[in-house]
Amino acid sequence: MMDKSFIFLLAAFVCSVGSAHIPTIPCPNYFRYVSDPYQNIEGLILVPYYQTPELLLAVNASMKGFFGQENSNMQLTMLTTATDLIQGLSTIVKYKLQFPVQDSIPQITSIIFNGQQFCTGPPVPMEAPNPYMPGSSSAVTNMYATHTSRFAPVQPQ
Ligand SMILES: *[C@@H]1O[C@H](CO)[C@@H](O)[C@H](O)[C@H]1NC(C)=O
Repeated sequence: MMDKSFIFLLAAFVCSVGSAHIPTIPCPNYFRYVSDPYQNIEGLILVPYYQTPELLLAVNASMKGFFGQENSNMQLTMLTTATDLIQGLSTIVKYKLQFPVQDSIPQITSIIFNGQQFCTGPPVPMEAPNPYMPGSSSAVTNMYATHTSRFAPVQPQ
């Protein structure tokens, strides 16, 4: 007779394959995973704004699997408008981080905004190849994205 807990574990494993696994977040105050209207997982970055005319954001992440150059690009979009920042209507800057594929969601390893480190975390661990899947291999891909914006200086009145 088969052990019930074994069947449960097997079912849990089958369910986890095919649906995206959400990695742990090293800095929940500055980063979260959200789902877009098409159920795609993307990242949301929120960092404080200190009245600087230049904003430089650099994000590093690590994801399970091997992905070529064209598939390892994350895309950063600034969601807060420059007008809101200049007029003091927003004290945080919000960015959207889009991932290259959905079946492997990257884990954030670093967020640096205007030279200040807001997030630092370990990369995805390398796994031993699965002995029940001959030819399977383990790989981790590192990813990097930056976004720069400069505001025109405010004209003296
Ligand atoms: C982020 O990735 C870039 C490009 O691979 C690398 O030059 C940089 O040192 C990394 N930064 C951190 C903080 O890991």
